[in-house]
Amino acid sequence: MSVRRLAPDHVQPASFAFDAANENWADQQIAKYPPGRQASAVIPLLWKAQEQHHGWVPRAAIEAVARKLDMAPMRVMEIATFYTMFNLQPVGEHFVQLCGTTPCALRGAEALKKVCEDVIGPQSTVSADGKLSWLEVECLGACCNAPMAQINFDYYEDLTPANFKTLLEDLRHGRPVKTGSQIGRSCSEPEGGGETLKDPALYDGTVIGAGDWQARVTEQRKAAAEAAAAKAAAEAAAKQAEAPKAEAAKAETAKADATPAAAAKQATDTATPGRPKPSDPGQPTGAAQDTPSAAGKPQAPAAPGGDKPVK
Ligand code: FES
Repeated sequence: MSVRRLAPDHVQPASFAFDAANENWADQQIAKYPPGRQASAVIPLLWKAQEQHHGWVPRAAIEAVARKLDMAPMRVMEIATFYTMFNLQPVGEHFVQLCGTTPCALRGAEALKKVCEDVIGPQSTVSADGKLSWLEVECLGACCNAPMAQINFDYYEDLTPANFKTLLEDLRHGRPVKTGSQIGRSCSEPEGGGETLKDPALYDGTVIGAGDWQARVTEQRKAAAEAAAAKAAAEAAAKQAEAPKAEAAKAETAKADATPAAAAKQATDTATPGRPKPSDPGQPTGAAQDTPSAAGKPQAPAAPGGDKPVK
């Protein structure tokens, strides 16, 4: 594990400020958090500061982030020195993070450190041509293909002193390199290819007694489609067979309505007087029967020359 210290004063810049685009980006990150919780944006802002400052975080950037988030500079310093994702020293164009944790160590990481020292120089220093620098870090989560290193944003796995040295030289001279396993392993399969889960029966359901379920489902769907088509055809045929009978019945009804007896009955029905309607003249209304006089109650005499009764 490397010691996490700020770079010496002679390489520290006098000041740091986000450029306009990054300032805007930082404001957007801060806006993601509730008021008073802007400190939660400290890691994204430190990351952006590192990106802007050629891959490392100077003291001035730590102080600028602290001011931006209204935090004590020491709080931001604690975060920047804790996470190895933040480089506190200048880095080369190709920054090698070599895993030195137990699985990688057991698989030869110590020999890879020697390669770094030989090809690049001491840890946390940039090679004379500015192309390479290296740092030992903790587990990077690719133990299955140990030993490994992360170079900028890519992983290089199954390293040996020989292929690692070639890799570093290729990077230094701008030659194309292969990311991932350096021995042709696919993902984290065993060397030589996968040895398990190769039986096709695992994928058609026979292993769990389901047989060839895909063929069975296909058959079921085909049978259902055929049954639906047969039902539709039968319904159409029945409808077609019923059509002449309906037409005959309709003609029979029309014929019966046209006979002399039917015409006479219709004329009789038309001549029968209907029940008088309540609004017919001469018929007593319910309202009249409900008047006081109608109920036997004496009425006041009408006032002479007026309609109102005398009280
Ligand atoms: S121990 Fe090296 S990647 Fe996990």
